[in-house]
Amino acid sequence: MNEKVLNHPLITHKLAILRDINTGTKEFRELVTEISTLLCYEAMSDAKLEEVTIETPLEKMETGKLNEDNYAIVPILRAGMGMVDGIINVIPNAKVGHIGLYRDEETLEPIEYYYKMPDGISNREVLIVDPMLATGGSACATINRLKQDGVCRIKLLCIVAAPTGIKTIEDNHPDVEIFCAVVDRELNDVAYIMPGLGDAGDRVYGTK
Ligand code: PRP
Ligand code: URA
Repeated sequence: MNEKVLNHPLITHKLAILRDINTGTKEFRELVTEISTLLCYEAMSDAKLEEVTIETPLEKMETGKLNEDNYAIVPILRAGMGMVDGIINVIPNAKVGHIGLYRDEETLEPIEYYYKMPDGISNREVLIVDPMLATGGSACATINRLKQDGVCRIKLLCIVAAPTGIKTIEDNHPDVEIFCAVVDRELNDVAYIMPGLGDAGDRVYGTK
C-alpha cells in the first residue's frame, strides 16, 4: 500500500466545507491551500536534514535544516495550481515546474499541452500536486513524463482520491507514494469522483 490518507478531524471538517456545493470560490481556494499545507507536512515527514550548527541567543547547538533547493513542486494544470501556495507556505524556496494536461471528455485520456520544468529537475525530489486523482490517467502521464526526464524521487499529493486512481498509480508506479486527504467511494460513468467535490478546476477558478 503506497498511499497515506490523512485521517484527522480537522481534515474531515475542512473537506465538508470544500465539498459543499454552496461553498464559493474564495473559501474553496483558501481551503485547498490549507489542506495542501497539511498534506505537505505529512509528505515531508521522511525529509533528510543537513546537519548544521547554529547559535541561539544563549549557546551554540547542532541541529538540522532542510535543503529546500532539493525540492520541486509540479502542479498539474489547471486545478493543481490551486495547491501550490499551500506547499510554498512550508517550503518557500522549492522550485515550481508546470505540466498542462486535460482529460479528453470522450476517451478520458490525458492530453499534454504544456511542460516546463526547473533546471536540474532530475536531481530534485518532486511533489506532484493535483486536487483530484480519479482514473489516475493525468497523474500517471505526469509521472511518466518526469521519469523520462530522469526524475527518480516522486510523491503525489492530492486532496480527493478514488480507489481506481490509487490502483492505477500503484500498478504503474509502485515507487511513488500517494498522500491524500480522503479516499472516496467510486467513479461515476463520466469518471467523476463520487461523492467528490465536482470539477476542481472550475471550482478553483470559478469558471462554471
Ligand atoms: C482534473 C483534475 C486532474 C484530473 C483527474 O483535471 O484536476 O488533473 O482531472 O482525472 P484523472 O485522474 O481521471 O486523470 P481536468 O482534466 O478536468 O483539467 P482542469 O484542471 O484544467 O480542469
Ligand atoms: N476531475 C475533477 O475535477 N473532478 C473529478 O471528480 C474527477 C476529475
